[in-house]
Amino acid sequence: MILTGGRKVFSVELRSDRDVAIARRRVGDFMKEQGSRELMQARFVTAVSEVARNAVVHGGGGSLGVFSFPDRRLVGVECRDSGRGIADIDAAMVDGFSTRNSLGRGLGGAKRLSDAFEIESRPGTGTVVRLTGLLQTRR
Ligand SMILES: Nc1ncnc2c1ncn2[C@@H]1O[C@H](COP(=O)(O)OP(=O)(O)O)[C@@H](O)[C@H]1O
Ligand SMILES: [Mg+2]
Repeated sequence: MILTGGRKVFSVELRSDRDVAIARRRVGDFMKEQGSRELMQARFVTAVSEVARNAVVHGGGGSLGVFSFPDRRLVGVECRDSGRGIADIDAAMVDGFSTRNSLGRGLGGAKRLSDAFEIESRPGTGTVVRLTGLLQTRR
């Protein structure tokens, strides 16, 4: 589990697009507080927005937990919903796959913009997506 060793610092309820924007801003502000450069913030908050939006649009709403890591230069996010779940995760990760006629680059894009990414989902149970972002570029 990619958030092992992390400590939850806050959470945001996700019911609407407005909450997605709030989550995006709060994660960005937290990264800034942690000394993250703007480029790293921009990448990670884009990934966070995609999974948060999925929880609202496809999962009927959910919640987002934000994690810090005492001895690692990382930020972590767990996005949960209790919606209908994803039957075929591998298919859902492929760019262009969408059950809603939208761009379908959300999950694939979120993974590419994250340092580590994991998704657990079962039809009828809901979906959990976890992602971490580096606070600084690796040297
Ligand atoms: N939280 C979720 N709950 C249920 N299905 C989801 C969830 N997130 C993603 N999906 C499924 O995976 C597909 C691909 O997601 P994504 O790449 O974000 O594309 P889009 O949101 O544009 O359809 C969605 O169309 C949907 O079928
Ligand atoms: Mg999406």
